[in-house]
Amino acid sequence: MDEGRAHPESPPEPTRRGFFKIAIGVLAAFGGLVLGIPLIGSLIGPAFRKKPTRWSRVAKVDALPVGQPTSVSFTDRSSEAYLRETVVRNVWVVRRSATDITVYSPICTHLGCRYDWEPNIGRFLCPCHGSLFSLDGKVLAGPAPRPLDTLPMKIESGDLYVEWERFELGISGKIPV
Ligand code: FES
Repeated sequence: MDEGRAHPESPPEPTRRGFFKIAIGVLAAFGGLVLGIPLIGSLIGPAFRKKPTRWSRVAKVDALPVGQPTSVSFTDRSSEAYLRETVVRNVWVVRRSATDITVYSPICTHLGCRYDWEPNIGRFLCPCHGSLFSLDGKVLAGPAPRPLDTLPMKIESGDLYVEWERFELGISGKIPV
């Protein structure tokens, strides 16, 4: 019997080349994992991240007239990444009763002009292309594709707070920008 000859059914001896192939494969998989996790996180993260709320105090509720739209200015402090800015904004507030309040963005839903309240006709009128809106924000005339945009609001300790938002213009859906 020849002791030096390999048995035909015994598994092949691991070679140096085979070892390197496996090592490179493991390293490549590990590298892919290390690079892939942040990439996947950045792609799907925004879908799960809750938008930070940014409430601004805009008025004392008791100071708002009932049944009469009021344009109210307030200071909005926003910060994105390292950019911080302070902007004076205004909104239209409609108070129907002590706590029944609607806040409208002052931006016309057609192409973004600033509309105004016309007390003589009891309507909001946009000077740019003549869109007319009722007190409850519905489109009565003109090219505006959707009602006035309402903004999130809350009342705390007698103060009205608003969260500033912008929406896509010229379309029927109210989609945040
Ligand atoms: S921007 Fe208001 S009607 Fe066109």
